[in-house]
Amino acid sequence: MQKTIIEQVHPDLVWWRSVLINLNLNIENTFGDFQSNEYKPNLSTILVLALKKADNKNNPNYTENVAEKAYDSVASKYDLTTKSVNYGIPAWLNTKIQKYSKYSPIILDMGCASGNLAELLVASSVSPCKLYGADISSSMLEVARRKNIYDALIKWDLNQGFNEPSTLYFDLILAIGFSEFLKEPAAFLTDTRRLLQIGGELLMSFESDVHGKKTTLIELPFGRLIRKAYSKLAVEQLMHDAGFALESLEHIDAYVSPTTEEHVSYWVCQARKKGL
Ligand SMILES: C[S@@+](CC[C@H](N)C(=O)[O-])C[C@H]1O[C@@H](n2cnc3c(N)ncnc32)[C@H](O)[C@@H]1O
Repeated sequence: MQKTIIEQVHPDLVWWRSVLINLNLNIENTFGDFQSNEYKPNLSTILVLALKKADNKNNPNYTENVAEKAYDSVASKYDLTTKSVNYGIPAWLNTKIQKYSKYSPIILDMGCASGNLAELLVASSVSPCKLYGADISSSMLEVARRKNIYDALIKWDLNQGFNEPSTLYFDLILAIGFSEFLKEPAAFLTDTRRLLQIGGELLMSFESDVHGKKTTLIELPFGRLIRKAYSKLAVEQLMHDAGFALESLEHIDAYVSPTTEEHVSYWVCQARKKGL
């Protein structure tokens, strides 16, 4: 067995768990410092014993890169698809972003896909001081890039967390239409909070579990895509635990799947960063 020591200034266990899972490592034990004292959330040092998992590629539940490939394959048609599935987000989002037409906010659009929500910002006369987009799908980013709305677009797997514990960047973060693909939503929210300005706003959607399933498996030519769904209580808990004050939480019809005709609804959250 090979021993690797990773030294990082990021004393956040949820974040580390998320990163290590993506490196195919399971946390076996945690110690609070080099004297093997018990881990406590406010300690400045965390020692983590993580063991390599069996090779994922033979695991039928292996999902790495499936979302990336799935969205790469539909990128050229994505704008048409969102129009044809009665996507419920634009009507809701429109009511939440109107106020920004009076300011020049710095905005991050996570899971930005083809830039369809950036077009909505433009149509609502919101003129960001800076607008950044992040997505795992290169083909989606290419479509978004051609629209020339974003200041920068980055290819990023939002399951990987963020490299630096950067703070106070954004007035508004959009995290819409992709939390169903997140492995560790708690870790994602902790990072997202860190990126927001003091009092910054998060507009985020979660798939609702009113259809009775916590997970939906979709068999695709390149693997199995897993979508996760949440109860209202679970969403409230996630937001609270990550340090957000929920200003509104609504249930909306999100879309009708073009392939399975399944009706999917979302919990849509307007949340504000609490504290510093
Ligand atoms: C349904 S689209 C949503 C696009 C847009 N935000 C909207 O609401 O219309 C989901 C997007 O999330 C992206 N995505 C899925 N998993 C991701 C991940 N782990 N990291 C970054 N982007 C991801 C996909 O590539 C896709 O472009």
